Amino acid sequence: MASSILRFLLLTALFFLSEPTYRPPKPNLLVLPVQKDASTGLHWAYVHKRTPLVRVPVLVDLNGRFLWVNCDQHYLSSTYTAPFCHSTLCSRANTHSCYSCASASRPGCHNNTCGLMSFNPVTLQSGVAELAQDILAIQAQPTSPPSKLASMVTVPQFLFACAPSFLLHKGLPSIVQGVAGLGHEAISFPLQLASHFGLQRRFTMCLSGDPNSNGFIFFGEQPNLLRPHLDISRDLVYTPLTVTPKGEYHVRVTSIKVNNQVVVPVNPSLVSELIASSTRRGLGGTMITTASPFTVLQRSIFEALVQVYANQIPKQAQVKAVEPFGLCMDWKKINKAPDVELVLSRASAAWRISGENLMVEARPGVRCLGLVNGGDKPRAAIALGARQLQENLVVFDLARSMLGFSPPLLSRGTRCAAYNFTTPP
Ligand SMILES: *[C@@H]1O[C@H](CO)[C@@H](O)[C@H](O)[C@H]1NC(C)=O
Ligand SMILES: *[C@@H]1O[C@H](CO)[C@@H](O)[C@H](O)[C@H]1NC(C)=O
Repeated sequence: MASSILRFLLLTALFFLSEPTYRPPKPNLLVLPVQKDASTGLHWAYVHKRTPLVRVPVLVDLNGRFLWVNCDQHYLSSTYTAPFCHSTLCSRANTHSCYSCASASRPGCHNNTCGLMSFNPVTLQSGVAELAQDILAIQAQPTSPPSKLASMVTVPQFLFACAPSFLLHKGLPSIVQGVAGLGHEAISFPLQLASHFGLQRRFTMCLSGDPNSNGFIFFGEQPNLLRPHLDISRDLVYTPLTVTPKGEYHVRVTSIKVNNQVVVPVNPSLVSELIASSTRRGLGGTMITTASPFTVLQRSIFEALVQVYANQIPKQAQVKAVEPFGLCMDWKKINKAPDVELVLSRASAAWRISGENLMVEARPGVRCLGLVNGGDKPRAAIALGARQLQENLVVFDLARSMLGFSPPLLSRGTRCAAYNFTTPP
């Protein structure tokens, strides 16, 4: 009897001893608020890193392979480490080269660590970076009950690349200090978060068209964000999502419509041949990118589309095109500009581009079709860019290899910024 009481007391004591600290519940939804840069039309976000924590502004790059940040200046952190070359961490990051550095030891400069090629996704300039680990903190969004406060959660050893500052010199918003890669790669932003927290392998992006209000990227669960305007379980259309060997996201566009009429392919074999040949070159048909402010079309697709679109616009409304666009009009002389639709995989899955997503004000009173000529051999036959993605809810479901997209939010009377974040205290 006495021994069983003793055992009971001992077990009770062990129970309390084994819970010395409070552990926050495991999050199932993380959120990164995102902002549009007015001068480049690209989108960026603050990531929280280092010890002590600081906010680092980084470009959002859908097809980037990992997070890289400028380490040449002001990288101060007591928790920075760099894995040794040939370690399992280097192999997880898919790098097998040993890095060496001739100058004084500092973050980004050690011997026998791993080199990782980092890219500026706008200029495609590259530079060797050091694979590193440091704390990353991100906002966890409570999903239920909704009144619960948001909190920051941390990944103590988030893998990233510590890159040279020259990669920032051209093409990027002036505020940014690095690039957050959301591509399909073991150490990319979404996949590292998913594996650390056991989240669903999915992210939901909503880019705001307005530089003064936030858009967002959610990682994990799929919250019904914009009810009652949009019901995420009913109003999204899905199309197969493919991933190229470089970890880039592609979908298949089968035709382009203007004003509800199929106009491109004017010559169907031309477009399918173009898409097939770019797929053979490992480039894929239609990529989705946040590294380009506007959608870029292969020259013959661009010319066919502009031609058909121009036929829908009264001649006296057309004015000399303003670079980099191909068709501009005197907005006073236009009643309504027709929509453009990208038909994906099947006729009922069409991405409609209308309003501000299509028409860009180039100078007062003059608006242009917001599409750009990519020349004869662009990276993809069609690269769907930031302007055409904005104010749409786009779901990258990596587990099911599907891309889900909403109708234009403005047509539903809502927008990305309407989502009411709960912010941490
Ligand atoms: C790396 O090794 C070289 C050659 O031994 C040395 O000169 C250099 O200072 C070392 N770099 C660092 C960062 O320790
Ligand atoms: C945002 O949500 C909070 C908490 O639910 C609520 O108190 C507040 O009124 C909401 N704000 C807006 C602008 O809807």
